[in-house]
Amino acid sequence: GARLHYVFNKDARGLSLSCHFQSFLPSCSNRFLSSYSLSGDLKAVVRVTSGQVVVWSDRCLKKILDLSALNKHGRVYEDAQFGCLAWSTCESRLLYVAEGKRSIGESYASASSPSAGEPRDKSVYWEDWGEGLTSKSVPVLCVADVAKGTVTVLQGVPSHVSPGQGLWAHDGESVFFVGWWHEPFRLGLRFCSNRRSALFCLDLEGNCECLSGDTSSVSSPRLSPDGRYLVYLEGQVFGPHSQCLSMQQYDLETRKISVLVDVVNRPKKDEFAGLYEALPPRCWASDSQRVVFSSARRNWRQTVQSFSLHSAEKFGSWKLLTIQNDLMVVHCSHLNEAPRLVIQYCGHSYIALGIEVTPIQRAGLCSFPGGPHSQFFAEWNVTTAVLVKLGFAVLMVNYRGSTGFGQDSILSLAGNIGSQDVKDVQRAVLTALADQTAEKLLTLDPDKVVVMGGSHGGFLACHLIGQFPDFYKACAVRNPVINAATLLGTSDIVDWRYSSVGLQYSYDQLPTPEALTTMLQKSPITYAPQIKAPVLLMLGGKDRRVSPYQGLELYRSLKSRGSPVRLLLFAEDAHSLARVDTQADCFLNVVLWFQQHLYLH
Ligand SMILES: *[C@@H]1O[C@H](CO)[C@@H](O)[C@H](O)[C@H]1NC(C)=O
Repeated sequence: GARLHYVFNKDARGLSLSCHFQSFLPSCSNRFLSSYSLSGDLKAVVRVTSGQVVVWSDRCLKKILDLSALNKHGRVYEDAQFGCLAWSTCESRLLYVAEGKRSIGESYASASSPSAGEPRDKSVYWEDWGEGLTSKSVPVLCVADVAKGTVTVLQGVPSHVSPGQGLWAHDGESVFFVGWWHEPFRLGLRFCSNRRSALFCLDLEGNCECLSGDTSSVSSPRLSPDGRYLVYLEGQVFGPHSQCLSMQQYDLETRKISVLVDVVNRPKKDEFAGLYEALPPRCWASDSQRVVFSSARRNWRQTVQSFSLHSAEKFGSWKLLTIQNDLMVVHCSHLNEAPRLVIQYCGHSYIALGIEVTPIQRAGLCSFPGGPHSQFFAEWNVTTAVLVKLGFAVLMVNYRGSTGFGQDSILSLAGNIGSQDVKDVQRAVLTALADQTAEKLLTLDPDKVVVMGGSHGGFLACHLIGQFPDFYKACAVRNPVINAATLLGTSDIVDWRYSSVGLQYSYDQLPTPEALTTMLQKSPITYAPQIKAPVLLMLGGKDRRVSPYQGLELYRSLKSRGSPVRLLLFAEDAHSLARVDTQADCFLNVVLWFQQHLYLH
């Protein structure tokens, strides 16, 4: 479909904005990657489904490369974990990641019975990278030469790592990439910044060198415009899957590594609270001296420029999308301010685009535990906005274990799931109810409290209705963890199953009766007999993180006790239930469920 394309220019007279239709981009259903060359003259689009690279120059088609016909590799990776599409400085070559060719015949050739042919290997299991990455197994780095129309799969990546997040060195003679260890087996990578990985440099002759340490987790390499400094994020291996990260700088001239931003264990109020999210694709100011990024600070997200905090109060969330020629593009919103783009020239006055939405009055209370290892920002959220519009007051709780409050807070949850987090949420709900009474607003009805959550938030919601059976009048959960003991064998992040209950993990770990007992004891299934609230379960049939059989366990135990339960199974969805029709279906069902059981019509 067509879309609007904005171009900002900065010259002596200040900022100017032009806008035109762009009709050549493939529609959103057609997965694609796109990238502008450094000068902005060339735009490359990779159409993942058809396997084409299309290069545009000033809105004229310049070149089409048919990757499928060249047949050097499998499908191009478009995900945020491995995927990249990077122009070389000379603007003639593109670096990207694709699935390596599976040489089915190879192992057959070395086998004893040559007449068996391919079918012999057809059923051999290929490990994948788990939730959201199920079609990804063996990534390779590829270079497309736009002028020559050729593709080369780069050789020399160490065999124990899977490469991704590639970028070119300034001279175009080598590339940098992150390599993730895939031995002894692959663990889920999505939302997990705790996987062993390192930063590598590979030249086009196939010589590879590890630049970072190799005992931590590395991501988001970004090269300064002058080509001298490489910054990247570093974190611990195992433990909570999203932790406070440090920003490291590799000086390509002196080959020295220094810490630019350290892990924050206990942030002081109103101070920088640490780094928790990937760096934007471009984050360097043009002087190669400053890095700009956004990060969580308690319940807010802010853009950090030259490591001093942005002070604007109007928005609860400032997310830096990119910075180019010192023009920052920031996505801003607040709980009651719809998102808009703010274009800002390194700290000066800005142009804002967008619409205004007015705040709304409220009535009942809807409590949402999220996370852990993620958080609710004070940002625009359409689900929340519509619930408020429908008359619910919405409480979203960043209980201890959520990001944005320092590393100590994140680590405090390990071993305490099902108790510390449950108490935090319940206390927040009681505080919200008490606050309202104290202010004589009396708009919140303590007899009309419902709870909703997904994943660990679903685990918490089920704990809450089990531990406080008379308090919550209805519950809606998306892919909840119900029985951590049975989840152990099916989750793509088996390490977190151990860490969450306070046990160490190693790849060769075997379950013990004690470990399984701890997991079971901390699970909401043990409270199932107490549950009174009607439960709406929404499950993704292809969820690799929390198997849909988790929700089914609760469904059966409630059914057998005559407790009201309704189950929606989205056979084609994964953990995030993110398909558009699924989201709409879930939202409407949740609202109707709450209204029905609160007797609101
Ligand atoms: C938006 O809010 C809903 C609750 O109203 C919550 O379930 C969902 O996770 C939120 N989304 C984000 C991105 O925080």
